[in-house]
Amino acid sequence: MVEVSDGTKVPAVTDTKPSRTGGARTRQLEAAPMSTFTIDTSTSRATPSPVPGKRTTAPSIRARKLREGNDFRTEQPIVMLTAYTMRMAQLLDPHCDMLLVGDSLGQVIYGLPSTIPVTIEMMCAHGAAVVRGSWHALVGVDMPFGSYEASPAQGFESAARIMKETGCAAVKLEGGEAMAPTIDLLTNRGIPVIGHVGLTPQAVNVLGGYGARGREEREAEKIIADAKAVADAGAFCIVVEGVMEGLACDIAAQVAPPVIGIGASAACDGQVLVTDDMLGMFERTPRFVKRYDDLAARISEAARAYADEVRSRSFPTGDQTYRPK
Ligand code: KIV
Repeated sequence: MVEVSDGTKVPAVTDTKPSRTGGARTRQLEAAPMSTFTIDTSTSRATPSPVPGKRTTAPSIRARKLREGNDFRTEQPIVMLTAYTMRMAQLLDPHCDMLLVGDSLGQVIYGLPSTIPVTIEMMCAHGAAVVRGSWHALVGVDMPFGSYEASPAQGFESAARIMKETGCAAVKLEGGEAMAPTIDLLTNRGIPVIGHVGLTPQAVNVLGGYGARGREEREAEKIIADAKAVADAGAFCIVVEGVMEGLACDIAAQVAPPVIGIGASAACDGQVLVTDDMLGMFERTPRFVKRYDDLAARISEAARAYADEVRSRSFPTGDQTYRPK
């Protein structure tokens, strides 16, 4: 065992590359204390952050929202983005408190028409990749449609499988009052839960589309009741998606766990976006997305330049070919 920067003891990892003098060089490396998986940097492009730190935990996210009398206050908003791959996780990790392996990967990665066909196998494969690519952020993985709604017991089985196979620290599930017993069971059996209310894309066939929710008084009241039920059941934070701004403010003011908004309000305790939307990978995005880049155009331009050079035989040049010295 070796002691790492925060004082925790972790298993020693031995690097046995041959030394210049011939014998095996034995060096003790610090293993990541909170990661189920480590990255073999000698065989992959992966480059872990130089000082593996302790991951952000569910209780530390929950504690970011403080009660002051009858009010709540979150000093520094919580930053969350989606990630589905190891490399994207590496790039986002230093900037985010939480990385969400969202079931939006169904549309973004697999070209599916909705999140409904997403499987637990897809979530586990991408969840494990994101855990491998991150050191600091809490990684939460979405429970896909059909993996938890039948009963709390089904929810526990699926969530436990996701946690074992990915090494993630939390799961997210959609739904309000109806899901409270499941959230209660999971949180009392060692599984931190991120709630998700308002526009819940897995329920698109019941909702009739992806339009903003809570325009009508009755629906707004139901969404507030959902958020309160999810909070009371033990969710450590709650995603509120696609609701009227005033409703998002009311929810953030009334529930104790941090509210992470998407298409909600700047008054929420944090924000999340689908990274590919935010990077400008798609021409069409929901109204609530702000594009911080135009990667689709930049990728097309790079591919066009490559294609031109291949066709004109100007790639590869001497710099990219092996020649006798
Ligand atoms: O699946 C997803 O990416 C999500 C976020 C949009 C919150 O649930």
